[in-house]
Amino acid sequence: MLFTSVLAGLFASAASAAQLQQVQYPSAPQSRATMWVYVPDNVVENPLVVAVHSCQSSAQAYFQNAKIPWHQGSDGKGYITLWPSSSTECWDVSSRQSLTRDGGGDSTAIGNMVKHAIETYKVDPERVFLTGGSSGGMMSNVLAATYPDIFKAVSLYSGVPAGCFVSSSGAAAQWNNTCSGGQSHASAEQWGDVVRAMYPDYDGPRPRMQIWHGSVDSTLSSNNYAETIKQWTNVFGLPEEPVEEIQNFPSPTT
Ligand SMILES: *[C@@H]1O[C@H](CO)[C@@H](O)[C@H](O)[C@H]1NC(C)=O
Repeated sequence: MLFTSVLAGLFASAASAAQLQQVQYPSAPQSRATMWVYVPDNVVENPLVVAVHSCQSSAQAYFQNAKIPWHQGSDGKGYITLWPSSSTECWDVSSRQSLTRDGGGDSTAIGNMVKHAIETYKVDPERVFLTGGSSGGMMSNVLAATYPDIFKAVSLYSGVPAGCFVSSSGAAAQWNNTCSGGQSHASAEQWGDVVRAMYPDYDGPRPRMQIWHGSVDSTLSSNNYAETIKQWTNVFGLPEEPVEEIQNFPSPTT
């Protein structure tokens, strides 16, 4: 019995030898974001999952958070994960630079990180996926708008529509109470125009979008869920009316 558990312990430590590591990348003007990559011990799959942290967090904190499943996913399924780390409290989703394709700022920085990872780790460029929560969810919408050619699919939770945090003064990484409080309303066409303006004249494929938002969120009003759906259905030319509605999904837990 003792022998078995010692062996099990040896295998457990061998299996967790891989570590989150900082990687140099071609940075972007107006951003001091850093790039962190996790290469599991046994890479058996070639997609890349990009996980964007929330406010007051970091690549390390998000990576170590047991509720964020991408570290375990990386180990279990054998794919590489990229963890951008912000140098500001929240991601810059408010400056004109960051809300523009290759405009500089954090979105351009993350776009550069992904391109660098594709070249460095022999990732399949057709299998690059993006996820993020809260500020990372906002950034996921911005990246879907500014780098639609890079991402195959995006799954985000508790974000706001791309451009909803736009700052009237152009300031970077500025909180926007109107949007966070759920008072930024626009038509589907107007929200779609916001996305199209971030990468004008782009008419290639766009990532599939999955949007999640808790209905009792007190930091980011869930009105932003409805506004985000208006935005992307317009971009995809789909009707706003749902095909199917399921109440209380996923079912509430304790
Ligand atoms: C907040 O965002 C809205 C759009 O959602 C914008 O009209 C407004 O100017 C922004 N507020 C500030 C203070 O920048």
